[in-house]
Amino acid sequence: MTVAGSLKRKNLFIGGRWQEAEHYIELTSPYNGEVLCEIPSATEAEVEQAIVAATQARGDMKKLAAYQRADILEELSYLLKSRKEEAAQLIALEASKPIATARGEVERTIQTYKFAAEEAKRNHGEMIPLDATPGGQGRVGYTKYEPLGVIGAITPFNFPMNLVAHKVGPAITAGNTIVLKPASQTPLSAYFLAELLEEAGLPAGALNVVTGKGRIVGNQIVEDDRISMITFTGSPEVGKEIRSKAGLKKVTLELGSNAALIVDKDVAIDGIISRCVTGAFSFQGQVCISLQRIYVHEDQYEEFVDRFIEETNQLKLGDPLNEDTDVSALITQGDVTRSLEWIEEAIQGGAKIATGGKSEGNALLPTVLLDVQPAMKVSCQEVFAPIVLIDKITSVEEGIEKVNDSRFGLQAGIYTEQVSTALDAADRLEVGGVIINDFPTFRVDNMPYGGVKESGTGKEGVKYSFEEMSQMKLVVFNRYS
Ligand code: SIN
Repeated sequence: MTVAGSLKRKNLFIGGRWQEAEHYIELTSPYNGEVLCEIPSATEAEVEQAIVAATQARGDMKKLAAYQRADILEELSYLLKSRKEEAAQLIALEASKPIATARGEVERTIQTYKFAAEEAKRNHGEMIPLDATPGGQGRVGYTKYEPLGVIGAITPFNFPMNLVAHKVGPAITAGNTIVLKPASQTPLSAYFLAELLEEAGLPAGALNVVTGKGRIVGNQIVEDDRISMITFTGSPEVGKEIRSKAGLKKVTLELGSNAALIVDKDVAIDGIISRCVTGAFSFQGQVCISLQRIYVHEDQYEEFVDRFIEETNQLKLGDPLNEDTDVSALITQGDVTRSLEWIEEAIQGGAKIATGGKSEGNALLPTVLLDVQPAMKVSCQEVFAPIVLIDKITSVEEGIEKVNDSRFGLQAGIYTEQVSTALDAADRLEVGGVIINDFPTFRVDNMPYGGVKESGTGKEGVKYSFEEMSQMKLVVFNRYS
């Protein structure tokens, strides 16, 4: 069964209705340029309608009891499970994500909504011991979480279903309404979600999906005072722009990184190569925690490089819908050109291509670079392409310095047999998450996820997003009044 031929024009989802748009644009496959369907390019007036609908639906959402919000999210996860192959094919088509990886994303999305349903039932505050200070006696204090109001969610192309889930799920958990602007290349997963949520019984107007090219739609959402919070995943450049335009809104930013891994001298190389190759090249390296820099102890370096190249050369390039494809097209032809330019810059500066370094159609061959200098773009910028560098270190100490020499700090990994080395690295790595004895690309959907430095502010992971998307209120009850 394939969904490709069954796609037709999509409409805007506003106020619980599928509304015809004033303008439509063609959505094409990043892999072969074929037109997939037509999608709305929302006008200012249509975005305004979405904001009005979300504002008006706040009361309906606030009235829902915790179990009702949990029921909707549970039903959503059930509906997604029952249509999971269709969902995976949509992701593969619109993002050129290899189908096996797309299936993995759908499985994770089901989990994310399950976590969101469970979290709705755990919405509890805490008792505050007010009598811990003079003046506080005779009073009972407690906190509770209330919805923020309207959440503006701007999501990226790389996990079009699960990163939407990480914003829409906790927003519903917390009783908010949402205006969602999915990435212009990958709106189909978001529209699919809207269909499922409609079926799951979400009140009309609680989710509104508006699509459009460029930053016009995004800017309108970011600047509108009726929106209480912006949650964004994307590039640091856009993240900074959002922060400067968002005024007093809460802002959560999940931005990029040049994630790194340290391999200590005592590690059995054979046992980690496959995992490292997956970390570097899964979804063509278009993952915020994709493995971009590998620092290997000099005792292991030669063996690691040889084995890594051998395994990289086994990867199959091709159509995202083919079962055996490992690597497919980058999201735009512009990204292929940029990647080749960055590789060329590295070569001019003395780096060597161990494998790859060329494009085939819209795909870049998985590329391994050696002798890369820290100031080269392939090292210090986020490559977001199937490019990895392997470098030699004389000690874990040196590896930590190299990992920390970055404007980013999302996650880092270290393989070591020494507990003390692992704990020391956990203390000293300047990142949001340290992954010991695994790649930095590790993520499951209930863990706190978010970076330091230019990798962003705030945390995702359902419980943590729920807190970000809620207003903590204090209640003080004076029993002697
Ligand atoms: C991201 O690219 O930020 C998300 C990574 C993931 O969810 O695995």
